[in-house]
Amino acid sequence: MTPVTTDLDQFLTAYDERIRGELFDFLRIPSVSARSEHDADTSRAAEWTADALRAAGLDASVHSTAGHPVVLGEWRGAPGKPTVLIYGHYDVQPAEPLDLWTSPPFEPTIRDGRIYARGSVDDKGQLFLHVKALEAHLAVRGVLPINVIVLAEGEEEVGSEHLESFIEANAERLACDAVVISDSAMFAPGLPSILSSLRGMAYFQIDVQGPAQDLHSGSYGGAVVNPAMALARILATLHDTEGRITIKGFYDTVEEWPSAVREQMGGLPFDEEHFRAEVGAPALGGEKGHTVLERLWTRPTCEVNGLLSGYTGEGAKTVLPAKAMAKVSCRLVPNQEPVEIERLMKAHVESVAPKGVNVTVTHLHGGRPWRAELNGPLFDAARRALASAFGREPVITGEGGSIPVVGDFARILGAPVLLVGFGLPGENAHAPDEWMSVENFTKGMRAIAMLWDELGA
Ligand code: BES
Ligand code: ZN
Repeated sequence: MTPVTTDLDQFLTAYDERIRGELFDFLRIPSVSARSEHDADTSRAAEWTADALRAAGLDASVHSTAGHPVVLGEWRGAPGKPTVLIYGHYDVQPAEPLDLWTSPPFEPTIRDGRIYARGSVDDKGQLFLHVKALEAHLAVRGVLPINVIVLAEGEEEVGSEHLESFIEANAERLACDAVVISDSAMFAPGLPSILSSLRGMAYFQIDVQGPAQDLHSGSYGGAVVNPAMALARILATLHDTEGRITIKGFYDTVEEWPSAVREQMGGLPFDEEHFRAEVGAPALGGEKGHTVLERLWTRPTCEVNGLLSGYTGEGAKTVLPAKAMAKVSCRLVPNQEPVEIERLMKAHVESVAPKGVNVTVTHLHGGRPWRAELNGPLFDAARRALASAFGREPVITGEGGSIPVVGDFARILGAPVLLVGFGLPGENAHAPDEWMSVENFTKGMRAIAMLWDELGA
């Protein structure tokens, strides 16, 4: 199978350099949603996105929320044709630790066919390739084959807290026949992929307070409960020795995966040793009785994301810390509900909290898991468009990560959601040296441009 060339390709090829330059401008804006010192940058990225949509030929508007703004782009010039909502996010993860970047995170640089920058793949590069696919249609043909709504948010990396209410309040304006999202990765280089599932999320902070202030560990140690040890005990109760989560009721609503999907998963070209070597861990671990892909895509988790207590500087300091804190998040699978997991987690921690310390559990954010209906005209169109652009039939994959709003789209707008991403394994999303492949950016743009032709036909 060889990739297909169209009039849209010719446009995208002719303007390749300009498009790259614009993407680099977008990547230079440090729109780190988690950090208030970057609020002005995050707003600037919203305005930049709106301007890019206008330049492509859409009407664009920026809507303030209680958090970061939502950007809408609209083109409704194809009466009688389907309306597609394209979703992406213009916010990025913090870039720290900065000293581990080969080139600075907000100075995009190409090396070995990769665009290195924070947000290159997650998700500015993937959002921007959608904008350019729309521009190609409007510039070459003056019209789009479908009606389009672009919704770009600035809070995805911090849990999309204000997006659900925005969608609810604007449900009529956002009404659509399909939602299309590029914020994920292909299974392997050259292998286009359609996602069949995402895990959900319930994120917690556990605070343990002991004595009123730090104490001399000789004068007081042994007679006062140590909050760091108390926290370690609590965390150690979260799993059994076979990797199962021991929170009572945690698995009650977990659904069996359809056997067809499991079979498909088993047929993917996946090598556990290669995966182990890629992550650089001495050995892999996880829940007994499941393959690595099953653990990643079909099973819930409970992970410590961060720990803080006592003295961690150079050398030794004999101190009994006053407090300890852990960030703990659970990835959820259908049909686990974040609010129910919150209730179960709080009850569990309360039941195991040692005496002599005060323990509080705060729920920071949550999102529902999601599983696709993998049939219908939307998926057939996506298969054809991906095959044309990449010269290869796409595979169906799962995903262990989360995009909190996906469940809300399906629920509030009642439209099927298509997830086609153009990242790659090892892309370093959320880590130093994040990159997006130039080839995937280029082919992704073409695949999406063709998808609109397929859907309009
Ligand atoms: N692009 C990711 C989602 C994703 C992760 C897709 C891994 C494919 C592979 C998204 O930007 C993300 O990181 N989401 C967060 C959501 C969380 C803050 C609720 C995540 O999964 O940690
Ligand atoms: Zn992300």
